[in-house]
Amino acid sequence: NMNLIILGIETSCDETAVAVVKNGREILSNVVSSQIESHKRFGGVVPEIASRHHVEQMTYILEEAMAEAEVNFEDIDAIAVTEGPGLVGALLIGVNAAKALAFAHNKPLVGVHHIAGHIYANHIIEELTFPLLTLVVSGGHTELVYMEEHGSFQVIGETRDDAVGEAYDKVARTLGLPYPGGPHVDKLAHEGEANIELPRAWLEPDSFDFSFSGLKSAVINTLHNAKQKGQELPIENVAASFQESVIDVLVTKTMRAVEEKQVNRLLLAGGVAANKGLRERLTAECERKGIKLTIPPLSLCTDNAAMIASAGTIMYKAGKRSGDRLNGEPGLVL
Ligand code: KG4
Ligand code: ZN
Repeated sequence: NMNLIILGIETSCDETAVAVVKNGREILSNVVSSQIESHKRFGGVVPEIASRHHVEQMTYILEEAMAEAEVNFEDIDAIAVTEGPGLVGALLIGVNAAKALAFAHNKPLVGVHHIAGHIYANHIIEELTFPLLTLVVSGGHTELVYMEEHGSFQVIGETRDDAVGEAYDKVARTLGLPYPGGPHVDKLAHEGEANIELPRAWLEPDSFDFSFSGLKSAVINTLHNAKQKGQELPIENVAASFQESVIDVLVTKTMRAVEEKQVNRLLLAGGVAANKGLRERLTAECERKGIKLTIPPLSLCTDNAAMIASAGTIMYKAGKRSGDRLNGEPGLVL
């Protein structure tokens, strides 16, 4: 059998996801059950609620993914599952489901790092070529990852405080927008003018790290000060100014990393890749510098299991086997 068919499972945060992927790049099925509605009224993900949802959903999502792919377990070569990082209770549901399936059907098990998954979402769209850089931007992560070959990840920069998506969600909450706020801020930003002065955290001149908590506080302070003076700042201008500051730093640092690492390939990954302003600026910069840029469609940017199956395929081919001691690792490093 020349074809490698991998079942992927992802439960690190608030999506229960199962997918079947052929040869690392062909999606046979990609089923995602989102819990956003359940967490909305709390203004963020509640870990205990997330775990319960995963337990309730897992068998249904699994059955759906297998049926849609028109495969049964005889066709499956290995099971790939997110082992971390993420919410420990949430991770454990996916890891234990994967272990149970691996044991029952006598299949090899491959633990996958969640960020490796986000990066490999790009491999589904267009085969990865090396060396390359990925800008990973999500609700939990902001990282610049350099890769010289498949499966080798070098984190050259990361956030020292809030993740980009987290900053978006907190600013959105301050502006009275619903959770998750990122898409609302993005939309408002396009209706406003970036005419409010906000800081940009460049950090040390040679650093590829990020920091967004100062910017978030500056937005809160600016709104507060205006209110005290009896002014009402147009929230679309606040959104536009915040977004410009975020994108300025993300794009400038990413392009500097592209230059320093001498890569001609850049990938965008994670839920914040949906941001229209970020996509536009990165696309323009890459065109100007002759860098090949890949941005997955939205369904592969947000958490899903096809990306885990894709990364899992590469790791399986490289000989990775996790065995029955596999555990959920909330702080797993790439
Ligand atoms: O990757 P993801 O689905 O989940 C994590 O692994 O974190 O990313 C979700 C994050 C949320 O913080 C959400 O507000 C943000 O991505 N997001 C956006 C946009 N769409 C989603 N942030 C800014 N602009 C957007 N258009
Ligand atoms: Zn994610």
